[in-house]
Amino acid sequence: MFDKLLYIETFGCQMNVNDSERIVSMLADLGYAPTNDAASSDMILLNTCSVRGGAEEKVYRRLANLRIYKRDGKKQIIAVGGCVAQQEGEALLRKLPYLDLVIGTHNLHLLPDMVRSAERGERRSETAFIDNELRLDLFPPISGESRLSRFVTVMQGCDNFCSYCVVPYVRGREISRRSADILAEVRQLAEEGVKEVILLGQNVNSYGLKSSSELSFAELIRLVADVNGIERIRFTTSHPKDMSDELIACFGDVTKLTGQIHLPAQAGSNAVLMNMGRGYTRETYLDKVHKLRALRPDIVFTGDIIVGFPGETDADFEQTLLLMEEVRYIDLFSFVYSPRPGTKAAELSDDLPKTVKMARLDRLMELQRRHTMEICRPYVGSTMAVLVEGEGRLPGQLSGKSDIGRIVNFPGDSSLIGTFVAVKITKAYPNSFLGDRL
Ligand code: 5AD
Ligand code: SF4
Repeated sequence: MFDKLLYIETFGCQMNVNDSERIVSMLADLGYAPTNDAASSDMILLNTCSVRGGAEEKVYRRLANLRIYKRDGKKQIIAVGGCVAQQEGEALLRKLPYLDLVIGTHNLHLLPDMVRSAERGERRSETAFIDNELRLDLFPPISGESRLSRFVTVMQGCDNFCSYCVVPYVRGREISRRSADILAEVRQLAEEGVKEVILLGQNVNSYGLKSSSELSFAELIRLVADVNGIERIRFTTSHPKDMSDELIACFGDVTKLTGQIHLPAQAGSNAVLMNMGRGYTRETYLDKVHKLRALRPDIVFTGDIIVGFPGETDADFEQTLLLMEEVRYIDLFSFVYSPRPGTKAAELSDDLPKTVKMARLDRLMELQRRHTMEICRPYVGSTMAVLVEGEGRLPGQLSGKSDIGRIVNFPGDSSLIGTFVAVKITKAYPNSFLGDRL
């Protein structure tokens, strides 16, 4: 029975989105129903991200806004989870007297107990790392979700220590889940009617590499594809250095693998890639892109780029633009470099003026806008299989995802939700397509 309300705000990557789903599921057992209204809620949880700077300040600012609800003598629990919680730990409790709980990235299983403590008025912080298999055994499952497209965690953490990145420090060592457990979960989801699984991890391509007895990621994908009822498989996120020929080959014959891959290059210049510690060159990156295109000519790429990494020259930046011209991403997430405390790159001298960095970002984004539209416009007139996920933003519209991962909106009746529908594309927008049901 629900007798309390839980308000969650999620920042950052899919890992956090997935963790928030776990939190909702766990706290439902304690009687908390999710709500979109912070004011009337009994518990507020911010699931935070620290991948770029200002993360901590953002949390303080947001909490300062939210704590007004606690003032009228209300017994409201305020909690911080995710990567800022992991990074700051107990210090957050000391700095913010109105904060009740701080929960780290490896401690989700403790949350129900922590919430009970908070209901009794105790303040608690739990941020101990668990860098062994136990972490995955303690990982709380999700129940009560009815969506057709679901995340399935295959691994957690990261051992790459790219020089700019805080993730290994806030998510811990890389651990792969047992393939038997993953496959059992996928079969269970298929039985519940799930049609699409998104295999999730900080670096899914290195799945199983640490264990000689475990499957490779490519082998895992092939077994997931054998599960009846699962019609689409996506995965995120990939590290180009671990994108093996065996995995690339899957795009040739595993038809359930979608025609979109996220392959973050981060930079186009070998000097910058080397300083980032990425473990590949522009040539080996492009070689993988070309191999994937040879096997799946209609594949689309999305990516991440950081501009203004310490020491990035104009010539280095030009190399990034040239790489973009060669790959032609359908979508690109671009960021200005932000030094993270404790990372190797934070020790490098970073004397490039902010105005230069911003000008580079502007140029890059302008090129990307052009590429997105040049790639998307030719889809007008074509037919896409759309997995209908829900109502669209406009009345009478439905919304779903196409094989290439883009949102497609079209007029239709809500009875179509949960099915695949053939949609003829009539218009391409920067972030979605519009179409008509065939
Ligand atoms: N500064 C800027 N961007 C970063 N990213 C990760 N760390 C940083 C940083 N310190 C970007 C990378 C990564 C994405 C999730 O965030 O592009 O792929
Ligand atoms: Fe960060 Fe690099 Fe690991 Fe990605 S692979 S999470 S960028 S350290």
